Amino acid sequence: MNRVYIKTYGCQMNERDSEQVASSLRDRGYSIVDTEHDADVVLLNTCSVRDQAEQKAIGKAGYLKKRKVENPNFVLGVMGCMAQNHGSSLVDRLPDLDLVVGTQKFHRVPDHLDNLIQSMNGQGPRPSSIVDLAEEAGSQNTIRDHIGKAGQVSAFVSIMQGCNMNCAFCIVPKTRGRERARPIEEIVDEVTGLAESGVKEITLLGQIVTSYGRRDFPVVGGKSPFVQLLERIQDVKGIERIRFTSPHPRGFKQDLVEAYRDLSKLCEYVHLPLQAGCNKTLRAMNRPYTKERYREIVDSLRAVVPSMYFSTDIIVGFPGETEADFAESAAFFDEIAYDMAYIFKYSIRTGTPAETMPDQIPQEEKERRNQVLLDMLHKSSLARNESLVGTTEQVLVEGPAKKGDKLVGKTRGYRNAIFDGSERLKGQLVDLKINRATASTVYGDLVLAGVDA
Ligand code: 5AD
Repeated sequence: MNRVYIKTYGCQMNERDSEQVASSLRDRGYSIVDTEHDADVVLLNTCSVRDQAEQKAIGKAGYLKKRKVENPNFVLGVMGCMAQNHGSSLVDRLPDLDLVVGTQKFHRVPDHLDNLIQSMNGQGPRPSSIVDLAEEAGSQNTIRDHIGKAGQVSAFVSIMQGCNMNCAFCIVPKTRGRERARPIEEIVDEVTGLAESGVKEITLLGQIVTSYGRRDFPVVGGKSPFVQLLERIQDVKGIERIRFTSPHPRGFKQDLVEAYRDLSKLCEYVHLPLQAGCNKTLRAMNRPYTKERYREIVDSLRAVVPSMYFSTDIIVGFPGETEADFAESAAFFDEIAYDMAYIFKYSIRTGTPAETMPDQIPQEEKERRNQVLLDMLHKSSLARNESLVGTTEQVLVEGPAKKGDKLVGKTRGYRNAIFDGSERLKGQLVDLKINRATASTVYGDLVLAGVDA
């Protein structure tokens, strides 16, 4: 009765939340299994950013409820953003749900499961569903203090929760609540512990990391709390690489640009959400910057680190986006020449300002615009990777590649790198001479002791 499978949808934040739930369940004596077939309990950690993500989870829950026929004690739970977004109406729609846990209540999952399982083992009627969605002060501090799993090379660290922006398209302020930051010391302690357990790369997570602690901690020497945090992590012994996601163009100031110049561990890769490359659309989206300001940030980063890599989020088919608006957006997207991008077709989210905006864009047109940007991205990412052929890149080895007997790792620019080598290299930084590239991956040979291998 104690085998739990957790399925995660959506962003890295969700992955980190799932890890935390898994770890708290292990501490309580549950075992975490790798497939739903082996599980007595399945928990879906959900995403609400687009309708498609919600539909996937609802479909999965509908399918899993059949498990109750063969095993009346099978437990099915939904956690995270979709739970928060739809609340108890989820139980109306999916009466077989036993557990609905919101984004500030992940730490309560072990108690809820204990209670459910205890009452199922009794002789009484099946217990009613548990729905736990309330806000909880300090809940940002409950996603913390994890130690790396044996052999873990890279880890996510949650530094804050919530979002105070009001982007017209976005459901996240509703699902994640107001911004709350974890104290710097706690984060540094967690990162130190991870380094001691062998982790080499840290990715700091927050909905808007550039807002980290701005109301709680002072600016010191012209440096924002987020940059202070980066500096502290730079000093953690054993950590070799630092990444973060996501910053907001509005909070991307010169101190952060200079951090890329000054902090050797901060990898020259930034995921900087654009959303639209047309000022009219940005205004309609309630995004408080212009494409000219965005361009300035890109230029100032390239000025301090010429090899900087750029990634973004962009939405096509926002209500009112005309053909001309899209052409402008696409031209800007092309001009930046992104190395990576997540291109989203606008999806109506109930309760957001954009829900009721006129001139919604037909699905076929969204598909067309999506394809235009995908083609541009393919060209720019391929050109960038091809430019690496013949150069030597530092790669952090993650372990065996999925296919064949190769190794896989990441360059500092977050390119996938595939090469021959011993599994013992896992967790090490190696030099790789690149000899071939596709849009998503570079291939190369290890450079050993300064001599081409
Ligand atoms: N439709 C499409 N994409 C969206 N995103 C957020 N809300 C929506 C929506 N309603 C995208 C944004 C955001 C990313 C996580 O998801 O680009 O940065």
